[in-house]
Amino acid sequence: MSDEHGPARAIVSVVGARPNLMKLAPLARALAQRPDVKHTVIHTGQHYDPEMSDAFFRDLGLPCPDANLEVGSGSHAQQTAVIMQRFEPLATALHPDVVLVYGDVNSTVAAALVAAKLGIRVGHVEAGLRSRDWSMPEEINRVVTDRLAELLFVPSRDAVDNLLAEGIPEERIHFVGNIMIDSLIRALPSARQLNAPQRQGVQDRGYVVATLHRPSNVDDAATLRELLEALVTLSVERPVLFPVHPRTRDRISHLAPPSLGDLRLLEPLPYTEMLSLVVSAGLVITDSGGLQEETSFLGVPCLTVRFNTERPVTITTGTNRLVPPRREAILRAARVAQDIGRSPAPAIERWDGRAAERIAAVLCDAERFAP
Ligand code: UD1
Repeated sequence: MSDEHGPARAIVSVVGARPNLMKLAPLARALAQRPDVKHTVIHTGQHYDPEMSDAFFRDLGLPCPDANLEVGSGSHAQQTAVIMQRFEPLATALHPDVVLVYGDVNSTVAAALVAAKLGIRVGHVEAGLRSRDWSMPEEINRVVTDRLAELLFVPSRDAVDNLLAEGIPEERIHFVGNIMIDSLIRALPSARQLNAPQRQGVQDRGYVVATLHRPSNVDDAATLRELLEALVTLSVERPVLFPVHPRTRDRISHLAPPSLGDLRLLEPLPYTEMLSLVVSAGLVITDSGGLQEETSFLGVPCLTVRFNTERPVTITTGTNRLVPPRREAILRAARVAQDIGRSPAPAIERWDGRAAERIAAVLCDAERFAP
C-alpha cells in the first residue's frame, strides 16, 4: 500500500489470546517510531475476560485495538472459522503489505490462512518452534502458519534448524531473538517495585508459583486431580500460589472439592504482577510456553508438566526440566530443584531485549518490499 508521497508500509497485527499480547507490545512500540509505517491492531476476541485481555493491554502500555472481532470461545473448528469469516472483509478492505501473526494460538493460524489466500504477505512472530507432538493443537497451528508465512521471525537457533529441515527457504528466516524477553526486560524494574510476594504474604524464594491450562493436563479429571494433589502436598512445606486460567477454573469446579492445604487459588494476574511473583519464586511449576522462557531468562528453576517442549533451549541452556503429570514425579523433581536452588541467569543467544527492533528493521527494509 503506497501513495504518491512515498512508500508508507501498512502492517496489520492480529492477536487474540493472552500470550500474544506480550509479543505484540514491543513491536507495536518499535513500529510506532517509524513514521513511514501504519500499524493496525486487530483483536480476534479469542480471549475476552477483562483479566485475560484488557488488563494486559493496560499493563503493557498498548493502545486499544483498532478492531475487535469478538469471536469468543468455541470448538477449534468453530473458533478458527469465525475468526476467518470476520477477518476476511477487514483484510480485504485494508489490504496491508503484511499481516503479522504471533505465537501458536487459533487466532494465529486463522488470520494467516485468510491473509495468504488474499495474496497478502504473512509474517510470523515466534516461528519455527516444534514439539513434534501432533496431539497439541498448537503444534498444528505452528506448522501450518510457518508454511504460509513469507517472513519467519525466529526466537532461537533450534527453530532456524527446524525450518531449514522442513525445506523453508533460508531467505525467509530471520533469527531475531525472543520478543517475550523484550517485554520482560522492560517490565522488570516495575515488577520488582510492585513487591507482589510481600503483598501475598510470602517470603522471597520461599514459595512456588504454579500455572496449568493445557487440555492434556486439565481436561482429564483424573490427571487434574493428581496434579492438584501434588501441589497440595508441596504446599505443606511452602505456599503454592496458583493463578488459575478460566479453562482450569471451570475444570476444577467439576471435581469433588479437594482439600487445598496451603495451595492458594488466585484469579489470573496482570503481566507485571505475575512477573513480580515469578522473579522471586523458589520454583515455578507450569505447562505454559512463556513461563518456560521467562524462568530460564531469570534463572528461576522451572518444572514443565509435559512430555515434550517446543522450547528445547530452555532445557539445554536454561533452568527448565520436563516432568510427567504424575504426583510422585513432580514431588521428586521439586525436591531436586530445591536442592540445586537458584542458578545464575544463563545467557541465551539474542534474548537481549532487541528482538522487536530487529523485526521492525526487516519489515521496513524497502528492498524486501520492492514490487
Ligand atoms: C489458548 C491457546 C493456548 C494458549 C492459551 C493461553 C489455542 C488452541 N490455545 O488456550 O495455546 O497457551 O490460550 O491462555 O489457541 N475462557 C474464558 N475467558 C476467556 C478465554 C477463555 O472463560 O477470556 C474459557 C472458555 O471456557 C474457553 C476456555 O477458556 O472455552 C478455553 O479458551 P480457548 O481460547 O479456547 O483456549 P485456551 O485454553 O485459553
